[in-house]
Amino acid sequence: EEMSVRVGAIVDACAELEGPLLPILHDVQKEFGFVPQPALQIIAGRLNLSRAEVHGVASFYHDFREKHPGRHVLKICRAEACQSMGADRVADHARRTLNVDWHETTNDDAITLEPVYCLGLCACAPAALMDDKLVGRVDEDRLDTLIAEARS
Ligand code: FES
Repeated sequence: EEMSVRVGAIVDACAELEGPLLPILHDVQKEFGFVPQPALQIIAGRLNLSRAEVHGVASFYHDFREKHPGRHVLKICRAEACQSMGADRVADHARRTLNVDWHETTNDDAITLEPVYCLGLCACAPAALMDDKLVGRVDEDRLDTLIAEARS
């Protein structure tokens, strides 16, 4: 159906690349917001891979979602520079406030919480990303503001 046509078009567009699997998965996620399960089979078939191989690659990278995200995606950096500046505390606050664990979406479908490993903002650690907006020196207050803005 329609999804397979869209996935097929993405595979075609990337088919000439060397190592097309990652670019294909990225483009599928860009198109749908996540990588739908049936897409794995389509991609596998077109690239002559097994579904397990494609699934293995998709689940190896933290970037690929298995489920549709909420309206906003909040990523909190969990890499070393941010950890040393209190990222764990900020992450705990986020999970408590949103009542979700990593990779889950709030009940109102507003926010999906995801870990990320370095946003290139180590000098302003701890760092977070709300959709496309990078935020440095995140603390509990700043996080509350971000969350309130996303929900408004
Ligand atoms: Fe967090 Fe680099 S370690 S932004």
